[in-house]
Amino acid sequence: MKTVLVLGATSPTAQAFIQLLQTDYPDTAIKLFVRNPAKLPADQRTAFPIFTGDANTATDLIPALDNVTHVYTAVGGTGTGNSVSALLSAIQTTQASIEHIVDISAGGIYGEYQSGLRPYLSAVRFMYPGYTKEQLRKPDLYAASGIAYTIFRPGLIQNGPETQLITHLPDYRKIGPAEFDINRSTFARAAANALFQDQYHNQSLSVSNGAPL
Ligand SMILES: NC(=O)c1ccc[n+]([C@@H]2O[C@H](COP(=O)([O-])OP(=O)(O)OC[C@H]3O[C@@H](n4cnc5c(N)ncnc54)[C@H](OP(=O)(O)O)[C@@H]3O)[C@@H](O)[C@H]2O)c1
Repeated sequence: MKTVLVLGATSPTAQAFIQLLQTDYPDTAIKLFVRNPAKLPADQRTAFPIFTGDANTATDLIPALDNVTHVYTAVGGTGTGNSVSALLSAIQTTQASIEHIVDISAGGIYGEYQSGLRPYLSAVRFMYPGYTKEQLRKPDLYAASGIAYTIFRPGLIQNGPETQLITHLPDYRKIGPAEFDINRSTFARAAANALFQDQYHNQSLSVSNGAPL
């Protein structure tokens, strides 16, 4: 049986992913890791095992990894630099058999989003250089672990109608504003395809709305 550990489960991005798992992958077991369970929807607090801790601390993650086969992490923010190292260290300590990790990173860390004057996306490199450096390290950290991974670098995650998907690898650095948006549910679907079908194997990629479905 597949068991997915969702880190950063209180985030809207992870919430869309959890909802997709519930509707489209009902045979998959779900475990949630959060700092503050009170921020979760009440039904999730009773439906799933909840693990509480700091994602930057490997020992906090160890109890959550029991029987886990897949990891989805939407842990974000400028104070989360150690979270990938902590996760990989916890996996190594527990010898958990993880088939794939999906990591939600930040659009703009390669200067790929042509964000003009707006104070986000590629401006992240100048506003938060330490955070950007940590995000740029992720592919090397995951590659060294030997675990299959996908890093998604979304632009602006939005609600709205689902679409097809446009993806770009890090060497493509001309993403215009028309490709900033990605629908939350479409994005959750891409994450599930990466996690369970090994799509986007060992890639870091941007994700944007494509043609209407
Ligand atoms: N929203 C967008 O348009 C967008 C665009 C590009 C990338 N992203 C990325 O997508 C991910 C999710 O973002 P979001 O906008 O949906 O929501 P968010 O509020 O930015 O999500 C951050 C998540 O990380 C958790 N977290 C932060 N530090 C933690 C720690 N030390 N230990 C445990 N958990 C910790 C937060 O928990 P708390 O609830 O306790 O704070 C929250 O669940 C982030 O990585 C973000 O950078 C989002």
